[in-house]
Amino acid sequence: MPKSYSYAELLELSNPLREMVIKEVLSFVAFQPGTSGLDAGCGIGNHLKILCDTVGEDGHVTGLDISGDFLKIAKGKIEQYNINKQVTLKKGSIDNLPFEDNTFDWTWSADCAGYYDNNPERQIKELARVVKPGGTIVIMAWSSQQLLPGYPRLEARLNATKQGVLPFRTGQDPALHFFRAPGWFKKAGLFKTEGRSFIASFQAPLDDKIFKALETFFDMRWGSPKGELSENDFKLYRRLCLPDSPDFILNLPDYYAFFTYTLFKAVVPG
Ligand SMILES: C[S@@+](CC[C@H](N)C(=O)[O-])C[C@H]1O[C@@H](n2cnc3c(N)ncnc32)[C@H](O)[C@@H]1O
Repeated sequence: MPKSYSYAELLELSNPLREMVIKEVLSFVAFQPGTSGLDAGCGIGNHLKILCDTVGEDGHVTGLDISGDFLKIAKGKIEQYNINKQVTLKKGSIDNLPFEDNTFDWTWSADCAGYYDNNPERQIKELARVVKPGGTIVIMAWSSQQLLPGYPRLEARLNATKQGVLPFRTGQDPALHFFRAPGWFKKAGLFKTEGRSFIASFQAPLDDKIFKALETFFDMRWGSPKGELSENDFKLYRRLCLPDSPDFILNLPDYYAFFTYTLFKAVVPG
């Protein structure tokens, strides 16, 4: 695979994997029709359409991201889906949200709030500040995968590389790991905290979008393992995980794999 994909392209190409679970996730979080919410770290706008469908024509979604370039792509998407009236896009940071207190009924943040190594407690407090009493905060992130059927040792070693554990880093405070979100929620004074993991499975024959999404995801997840694997494991990695290899594992006629996406939600008191 060419290594020249931009991050925006990677988000677009790998999105079909997330789309497989997003409907189930939305039915669990149960945002109500007519409500107004914030997609914090909306990126290129992958979730704006489905969030709009959930809240309906009387609802509203604000997409916030720190990247002006991503917001430009998101703007193209909302025009394409004809949801301009339902969506406002805003540039800004989840560390310091550019909104008044009690603005939204809910906030949603996928692979953004609490995911990167910055200050998750502050981010959760910020999200809680802009949500009305009784409103809901949802954060979620990619949490695990089994993508190399028949090669559990190689997969375990790839997952243990620096890139494999990103965005978590060697030496990082364990309290900053995404799965510690219930503690951040407690410190922010939220209640009814609930975590749940969702599973998406893939089975051959893979459709083109999922095939491409997985190919892209192999690269995002384990793209540069050289130096962290033994010579034999690196050879095996190249044989199984690179699309130009005759043994590329996604071509297995009986391929099966899954990933999990984990979500934490809580309610703002009042
Ligand atoms: C992995 S992408 C996820 C995008 C989108 N939520 C999705 O699921 O497709 C993470 C996004 O968070 C944004 N981001 C990172 N730090 C941020 C911050 N402090 N405030 C707002 N957005 C931020 C990035 O620009 C990027 O768009």
